[in-house]
Amino acid sequence: MAAPQPVPQLVLGPPTRAALFLTLTVAPGRETDVREGLGELSGLTRSVAFRARDDALACVAGLSSDAWDRLVGGPRPRDLHPFAPLQGPRHRAPATPGDLLLHLRARRADLCFELARIVLDRFGDAVTVVDEVHGFTYFDERDLLGFVDGSENPTGPDAARAVLVGDEDPAFGGGSYVVVQKYLHDLTAWNALSTEEQERVIGRRKADNVELPDDVKPADSHVALNTVEDEDGEERQIVRQNMPFGRLGTGEFGTYFIGYARTPDVTERMLRNMFLGDPPGTTDRILDFSTAVTGGLFFVPAAALLDDLPAPDTAPAAAAAEPSAPEAAPADAVLPGASLGIGSLKGAPA
Ligand code: HEM
Repeated sequence: MAAPQPVPQLVLGPPTRAALFLTLTVAPGRETDVREGLGELSGLTRSVAFRARDDALACVAGLSSDAWDRLVGGPRPRDLHPFAPLQGPRHRAPATPGDLLLHLRARRADLCFELARIVLDRFGDAVTVVDEVHGFTYFDERDLLGFVDGSENPTGPDAARAVLVGDEDPAFGGGSYVVVQKYLHDLTAWNALSTEEQERVIGRRKADNVELPDDVKPADSHVALNTVEDEDGEERQIVRQNMPFGRLGTGEFGTYFIGYARTPDVTERMLRNMFLGDPPGTTDRILDFSTAVTGGLFFVPAAALLDDLPAPDTAPAAAAAEPSAPEAAPADAVLPGASLGIGSLKGAPA
């Protein structure tokens, strides 16, 4: 029988009405502070979540490739690397600064705000917030382009298989890779299209969210370019938890794209399809109305590993002295400590 996987952070939590996305940089010389702060994250989440147990507060933390090297010792997650910017014939996906990603979610925005406040207070001047997006659920689960967003996400065991690292990288089992991009929409240009034209951009009908038949769906539609398969014809999937955001006064209308995957390879393939085109030059029509202004790739360690990330210089000694250190232990040995954070991370009633 396969060994049980370490308990993940709450990557696959229940749907929530609110989210707060924080991208942070870590001040040089403050790596130890921040690593220790990350170890307190599950406890801080418990403190707030317990006060509103029905509201599913969760905080998922990820580290960039550079941050991993600076903050953490021992082996590296196999597929962790910096976000690769893309320059296509018409559109650009920039890579922007960010050492840590905090993805806070809850049924109520106040809980996300309260936890973020406490966490940032804990980190103090060891971190700088370089991007902050307060996302909300728009009616009918629509994005600000007016289309239902998220319906083709895998669910249940399929979702876990799509997003959680397994035996291919045992020291990091239960982890996940997350790609984020902040997009701004040109709603004036978008709203100048007829509904039928918009439907051909997305590849689904607007009112009832039904996918266009293959012989009608254009090759440069968003859905066509993001349906990717492996060499055996198996669909390769990610789990998206996109959120609309905006500021009316400045005419800012956006989608915060966030995609979790077992390997960043899948998300990167989708991005290449969108920005470079598949075949080359057939780029995603959604990009004619949406500009990517940020881009980052982060590794989300399993819950127990985040609670106790090894320090760079002390890692080998710690591994020898501490049998549950991830680099010294089989994947399932990470399990016992995982119970520390999980119940409360879920924020669900007992
Ligand atoms: C599908 C919106 C960016 C990957 C969809 C759908 C909408 C949508 C409305 C159809 C409904 C659904 O299945 O969810 C957007 C918007 C974006 C954005 C507004 C930002 C401007 C991205 C990016 C990726 C992506 C950057 C990948 C890197 C996908 C995938 C599907 C999808 C995999 C499902 C395709 C299928 O199997 O039918 N998106 N999306 N999206 N999107 Fe996006």
